[in-house]
Amino acid sequence: MSGDKEKGYFTEAESAEVVMGSIAATTDERLHQIMDAVIHHLHAAVKEIEPTQEEWFQAIQFLTKTGQMSDEWRQEFILLSDILGVSMLVDAINNRKQGDATETTVLGPFHVENAPELENGADTSLDRKGEPLVVHGKVRSVEGAPIEGASLDVWQCNDDGFYDVQQRGIQPEFNLRGMFHSQKDGSYWFRAAKPRPYPIPDDGPVGQLLEKLGRHPNRPAHLHYIIGADGYEEITTHIFVPDDEYIDSDAVFGVKESLLADFVKVDDPDRAEKFNVANPFWEVEFDFVLVPTAG
Ligand code: BEZ
Ligand code: FE
Repeated sequence: MSGDKEKGYFTEAESAEVVMGSIAATTDERLHQIMDAVIHHLHAAVKEIEPTQEEWFQAIQFLTKTGQMSDEWRQEFILLSDILGVSMLVDAINNRKQGDATETTVLGPFHVENAPELENGADTSLDRKGEPLVVHGKVRSVEGAPIEGASLDVWQCNDDGFYDVQQRGIQPEFNLRGMFHSQKDGSYWFRAAKPRPYPIPDDGPVGQLLEKLGRHPNRPAHLHYIIGADGYEEITTHIFVPDDEYIDSDAVFGVKESLLADFVKVDDPDRAEKFNVANPFWEVEFDFVLVPTAG
């Protein structure tokens, strides 16, 4: 009834419009636009679902537990966004591919600021677990020019499937992390350990939801990177091991075809000596392509 709406009384039929009427005075245009979409979609979902009172309260309890699980080290809401594909959607909207620029993917919760600055060729594997890996390639511009001095912030899990920050006191601090810089010809290289698949933290409400949905919590093996250079857009990305058992079912939807790297098993004592690694070892070559900043 339009009379009710004008007075601001609530009706089932015009529920979203009534709530929107209550925020007409806001002067924040972006907030108004966001709330308009959120309220309309939320009310439409509730009308479609027609939850019982108990189901509504279950949803409230789920969100409450998600908040209670979160602290300085654990962000269960981001994990929820990750497993619902929202993190990848926000990433896609904000990083639309330009030319052959390297595609981006999720940051994840295990990045730390101030990873140690390392020289090219350094070994990030401080616990020496797993199979040795040599990672090398170039950083260049979409226009083709090599980029000297690009920063490559790299991190990965160890051979037990944990990041150092998940195992404080067990793994050495900064295990499998480092900040490298590309050389004059854009090249970079470092030693590491072959990454392995691992489960995202699944001992909270998000893990319970995954289980109820018949989903596994695993991510395919990958290395993380944040790459930046003066005059270029910074990128947050991964490279993936393509024949991983979870490559087609990443719990957080982070895989992109262009990020599948060629991990080659090398059995060659001369090449091992050149890279100062034990033979046999794994080698992966991957180039990163950056987009100049606008203006
Ligand atoms: C990760 O790759 O480190 C990660 C990404 C999203 C959720 C959990 C972990
Ligand atoms: Fe990861």
